[in-house]
Amino acid sequence: MSLIELKDVYKIYNEGQENQVNALDGVTLTINSGEFVAIIGTSGSGKSTMMNILGCLDISTRGEYLLDGNPVSQKSERELSELRSRRISFIIQGYNLIPSLKVWENVALPMTYQHIPLAERKERALAALEEVEISSKAENKPSQLSGGQQQRVAIARAMATRSPILMADEPTGALDSKTGAQVLSLMRQLNAKGTTVILITHDNGIAAQADRTIRVMDGHIVHDSLWDGILVPAEAAAGVKGA
Ligand SMILES: Nc1ncnc2c1ncn2[C@@H]1O[C@H](COP(=O)(O)OP(=O)(O)OP(=O)(O)O)[C@@H](O)[C@H]1O
Ligand SMILES: [Mg+2]
Repeated sequence: MSLIELKDVYKIYNEGQENQVNALDGVTLTINSGEFVAIIGTSGSGKSTMMNILGCLDISTRGEYLLDGNPVSQKSERELSELRSRRISFIIQGYNLIPSLKVWENVALPMTYQHIPLAERKERALAALEEVEISSKAENKPSQLSGGQQQRVAIARAMATRSPILMADEPTGALDSKTGAQVLSLMRQLNAKGTTVILITHDNGIAAQADRTIRVMDGHIVHDSLWDGILVPAEAAAGVKGA
């Protein structure tokens, strides 16, 4: 069974109006557990829309989304939020962390929804902050940290929560290349331990470090590196692409 399955999914904003946008225009996609996937495309191509749907932050206008084989589109907001807190961690540029909570409290927050007792929440949060080498900032507020440090806190939160899926929207976008590389390397470490990582970027260099790249344009998947070297039977018979 696939971890993630989109079947002919549409996300249409302002449907039927003059300013209608087909942000996702019939997307079919399968992602298996343990993959490290980059979704790449220019600004406005539909990357964040796709992540919002994959991350159960939004539901599609049409089409089917199966997560762990279960249909997502029929779920209530409450069920979606429950699903997110059990299954998915997010790194979202800019509005990652809750400003009024200390760094360690941010890391521990999703565990609250998992009904983990406070002492264990704090212990796991501090251990994760240690792993991303930022434990000295545990008692600080997020605004007192640099952008790269805040991204690392978000990764620590994913580690501590032990979510099976990590979704990151431009996690290295605002970072210098060295800090960006650190963040990417932490994501690779999580993936090596079994976390499925879905990374959104407009940067080809970052995307190249994923195991699989999916290119989005105008709400369509125009290329998937999985397709490379795979001929559909009709093409193979006709000798297309010179196999
Ligand atoms: N809430 C909304 N209402 C109307 N249109 C929207 C809404 N959100 C996104 N769009 C439109 O949908 C399209 C896809 O937007 P999306 O945010 O997914 O792009 P993106 O690939 O993430 O771009 P970027 O790289 O700039 O973040 C764009 O044309 C955008 O203007
Ligand atoms: Mg975006």
